[in-house]
Amino acid sequence: MLVLGIESSCDETGLALYETGHGLRAHALHSQIAMHREYGGVVPELASRDHIRRALPLLETVLAEAGVGRQAIDAIAYTAGPGLAGALLVGASVANGLAFALDRPVVPIHHLEGHLLSPLLADPPPAFPFVALLVSGGHTQLMRVDDVGEYTILGETLDDAAGEAFDKTAKLLGLGYPGGPAVSALAAQGRPGAVTLPRPMRHSGDLDFSFSGLKTAVLTQVRAAERDGRLDDACRADIARGFVDAVVDVLAEKSLSALRANGLGRLVVAGGVGANQQLRERLNALAAKRRFTVHYPDLALCTDNGAMIALAGALRLARWPEQATRDYRYGVSPR
Ligand code: KG4
Ligand code: ZN
Repeated sequence: MLVLGIESSCDETGLALYETGHGLRAHALHSQIAMHREYGGVVPELASRDHIRRALPLLETVLAEAGVGRQAIDAIAYTAGPGLAGALLVGASVANGLAFALDRPVVPIHHLEGHLLSPLLADPPPAFPFVALLVSGGHTQLMRVDDVGEYTILGETLDDAAGEAFDKTAKLLGLGYPGGPAVSALAAQGRPGAVTLPRPMRHSGDLDFSFSGLKTAVLTQVRAAERDGRLDDACRADIARGFVDAVVDVLAEKSLSALRANGLGRLVVAGGVGANQQLRERLNALAAKRRFTVHYPDLALCTDNGAMIALAGALRLARWPEQATRDYRYGVSPR
């Protein structure tokens, strides 16, 4: 079955073709980062308008890459939510229009389920069950994943998401949008231990997170350095390093606790912050020491993309041919 995936929930238009039994056939993405950069964040109306411009040309790109015509598409999956309303509407309209024209089923997909299943695009894919650390701009969750559609939330952030904390820290340090990669690059130049920030909820005894206090701690450091006239590039790098080390510590420790509490030995990392090099290095070192395996999607598939939506659509449609076209609730198996 050849499934077209369409992602348009935020600032990336992603289209992809996934074929059951063969894997990813084609994958194309247009990022709006350059367009939103001058505003310091995503402007919803501009995002929607750009999705409209990009969606159909990207469809032609993936069809050409796979060497097939529109008629070869067996089903169309699209991100139904959560996301920016206007942006989502573009993906939904394109998906439904195509499905109507081709007389094919259309499968709504929960954006987070796309991220959660994206590591399954790796070859070989991790086997079920596993613990997933889902760290994106809007969410931070630890999930137990027993099968497609069988997800249990083990813990989540009580306030800001990890990616949001990266983006806000970037602003406080005078870095551009999106903040994650910029903070990460600056932190690489900082000295370990020069600035120590709190590890929120480290000893909370549960698997929840909190990142808003960390952002305030960064603000306090920036203000103090400003006041003392020492806020230069080296000082900013030390603060970035302190911030990244604190986030990575908490994410790594809670991931290990989640594995232990569930007696599992496989950790899957997904979402934009999963692209973070410092997080990957820490988890890889911890995995070697504590004897678990850690799986990531390709770097290009950590942030938003159509491939994860096509995959989720193919998996849901194969399991629930009837319900998959109607029900996309996250963590609720439609059986
Ligand atoms: O998964 P994603 O593309 O979109 C959402 O569903 O939210 O995640 C975007 C988030 C942003 O907050 C961005 O700053 C962060 O992921 N991010 C990173 C890195 N690349 C993207 N954070 C830390 N390090 C990175 N290398
Ligand atoms: Zn996302």
